[in-house]
Amino acid sequence: MTGVAILGFGTVGSGVYDVINTNCGVLKSKAGEEIKVKKVLDLRDFPGNPVEEILTKDYEEILNDPEIGVVVEVMGGVEPSFTFSKRALSMGKSVVTSNKELVAKHGAELMTLAKNHSVSYLFEASVGGGIPIIRPLCVSLTADKILEISGILNGTTNYILTKMTEEGKGFKEVLKEAQQLGYAEANPTADIDGHDACRKIAILSSLAFGETVDCENIYTEGIGRITYTDIEYANKLNCLIKLIGSSKKTVDGISAKVSPFLVSKDHPLAAVNGVYNAIFVKGNMSGNTMYYGSGAGKLPTASAVVADIVDAVRHKGLSVNIGWNCDSQARVAEIKDSEVKAMLRIGSDNLEEAKKSINEVCGNVQIVDLDIEDDEFAIITNKETEGSMNLKSEKIKTMGGIKEIRNLIRMEA
Ligand code: HSE
Repeated sequence: MTGVAILGFGTVGSGVYDVINTNCGVLKSKAGEEIKVKKVLDLRDFPGNPVEEILTKDYEEILNDPEIGVVVEVMGGVEPSFTFSKRALSMGKSVVTSNKELVAKHGAELMTLAKNHSVSYLFEASVGGGIPIIRPLCVSLTADKILEISGILNGTTNYILTKMTEEGKGFKEVLKEAQQLGYAEANPTADIDGHDACRKIAILSSLAFGETVDCENIYTEGIGRITYTDIEYANKLNCLIKLIGSSKKTVDGISAKVSPFLVSKDHPLAAVNGVYNAIFVKGNMSGNTMYYGSGAGKLPTASAVVADIVDAVRHKGLSVNIGWNCDSQARVAEIKDSEVKAMLRIGSDNLEEAKKSINEVCGNVQIVDLDIEDDEFAIITNKETEGSMNLKSEKIKTMGGIKEIRNLIRMEA
């Protein structure tokens, strides 16, 4: 029997408890021995819940229990998760997590520590919730040189954008629904501002390109500025708006970003709705592969965590190596050098003069008029570097007939 301790009895932690108890027979046959939740660490009490019998507020009890071989860290955040994970690994216990913030910031260090103590540090659930993506990337595609990764990596924002588009609902109302359904984090800022997707693309990039990519260096923009008017422009262009994380290796380093994109309704990512995530991987041998499934939610995420527990148990005495080169730091290319095409919404007090100004600065670009808005129009820029597009945007703002740039949304190539 291998005992498991769950740190944090929130959405994912209680899901892990349920999966282990519901599927105990299946897990026993797959791991070759019984897997049992021995302790749950949480500062809260759960009166009436059977978990009360194994609840503790003292981490030492877990560390000092020789039957506990795997610690599940699903507390989120960097501290105390980082300290707790280091202590467990140092005492020869494997650690399994869904904590993308910790993996993105200290994954390399924790994997080195795990290796030095012949245990595993596993984090399949940290990207894409219940979608198998870490192992396909590191194991199944190991013969490939990975050229590019892109996808919808955050369930909450995809849920919000889908509901806003399909039901014309307001941002705040939909966010509340997402929280009630357990998709959004307690503090949804990381989802809305794109930081959650940024951590996930940093993890995938580190694994795909074999060097640690620091999420602090990835350009990140969330969905907070997306309005229903943007969605209507998108619709007129036969597009949807999706929050996309993308990354590829270029001569200038890893070119990665997270931002809302206009995606053609014919593109496979346009069909990824609600809390679902999808990740494209382009390999130099395998070509394009796509991974799709529930990107958030209690049981899908817990299923990925428990699969890691089984893997750690199967490899007792060994460190499961998923191939993250812990020693070297990747160079991240500057956003200004990345090439992009975008839709710019131009607020105007004289439409005719504004369109002439646009022609002067940008040349002949596509203009989109929205019947319901009479003091603005949008333009679709030609493909150019972000740096050059920013210079043009600054120039546009000073030109005749133009009041402001109301939004800039990138377009998929
Ligand atoms: N808040 C995250 C999301 C949970 O919405 O995708 C899964 O990582």
